Amino acid sequence: MKFCLNHFLSAVSFALDYAEHDVFGVELNHGKRVAYISWRIAQRLGFSEDDVFDLVSLAILHDNGLSRYLGNKELKSNLVNYEVIKGHCVIGENNIKKYPLLKDEKNIILYHHEKLDGSGFFHISGDNLPLKAQIISFADYVDTHFNAAKFYGAYQEKAVSHIMKLRGKQYSEQICDSFFAITRQACYRLDQDPNNIFECLQQNLPLRNVDLSYQEISEITETISDIIDAKSKFTWRHSRGLAEKADIMARFYKYDDVQRNKLIIAANLHDLGKLLIPNSILEANRALTEDEFALVQSHTYYTRHVLSRLDGFADITEWAANHHEKLDGSGYPYGKTAKELDFNSRLMGCLDIYQALTEDRPYREGMGHKKALKIMSDMVGTGRIDGSIVEDVDTVFAAY
Ligand SMILES: [Fe+2]
Ligand SMILES: [Fe+2]
Ligand SMILES: [Fe+2]
Repeated sequence: MKFCLNHFLSAVSFALDYAEHDVFGVELNHGKRVAYISWRIAQRLGFSEDDVFDLVSLAILHDNGLSRYLGNKELKSNLVNYEVIKGHCVIGENNIKKYPLLKDEKNIILYHHEKLDGSGFFHISGDNLPLKAQIISFADYVDTHFNAAKFYGAYQEKAVSHIMKLRGKQYSEQICDSFFAITRQACYRLDQDPNNIFECLQQNLPLRNVDLSYQEISEITETISDIIDAKSKFTWRHSRGLAEKADIMARFYKYDDVQRNKLIIAANLHDLGKLLIPNSILEANRALTEDEFALVQSHTYYTRHVLSRLDGFADITEWAANHHEKLDGSGYPYGKTAKELDFNSRLMGCLDIYQALTEDRPYREGMGHKKALKIMSDMVGTGRIDGSIVEDVDTVFAAY
């Protein structure tokens, strides 16, 4: 299938940036701003279109290794603590090996905290440091030390003199000089405004379409599901568990490989919108207030918002984003009814409930199969979920 990488990258950056923002308290859009600064520098350095595309993709994904650390309490609300972990470079480099778009790029994410003088984690210096890694390392430094919105007047002068001290030592002269030139233009701060950055990247980056199978896309979406799961210790295995169950049910129904992989992708991404919900609400071990529940209801709305932009994702979007709708119209966010919910949407809704009931949470152990089925049968009785699917879930998982 022809797959537009630009759209895909914007979905991943949505996931990464929101997760970093909520968990580490970093200003929203870190990945996008690092991508923007990298792009502008590459332009000045005369990069080819292909190299610009690779650089910007890597910049968007540069902190993708964060997933492993999201649940670590000691690091919470402190990006500086997290950025100093060498591990996020190693994990991030490994993760992107699954991304067929970047097969020819090596060690860029691994070395995204290296400095020209060898003072980074791996002590790589000078010519041994790939130029793309140098640019991302520089852009990351700029974004974590300065506020783009303030780049004018005295603030800008102070920032320039700060970076002048690093020029030729930690960062190459050509990168620093390109940066100085870019920041003299007012668009530097305007493009990075939260209202503009997404549009700006979309409009200016070269378009890339690649041939990918749903099997390959499903492997890529596993890394996104890890990020979603890792955001909260309450749901540390929820998407992964749901994807496994979706796989098992698809085999039970004898779906072909395309249908099966689409269902797994939908499971991997169904709670994508939860990245917008603060952990303080997701982890509230009490009844939610009206305001909080209203916010929770938005998560599937945003799952739809992001997935509907992806090529070949029309039915995946439905299955993923309908998982809280109910046959009697009592679900959210659209209050859809039976005739608007296709079989796989119903299946995803049932599996989500089954997964949630049977998985362990920090405050309770997962329920046994029988008890979970009893609750689900009651929901069938009130006309909320599909009775024949619940029977199949019973048949398939009773033995697990
Ligand atoms: Fe980093
Ligand atoms: Fe970063
Ligand atoms: Fe959900």
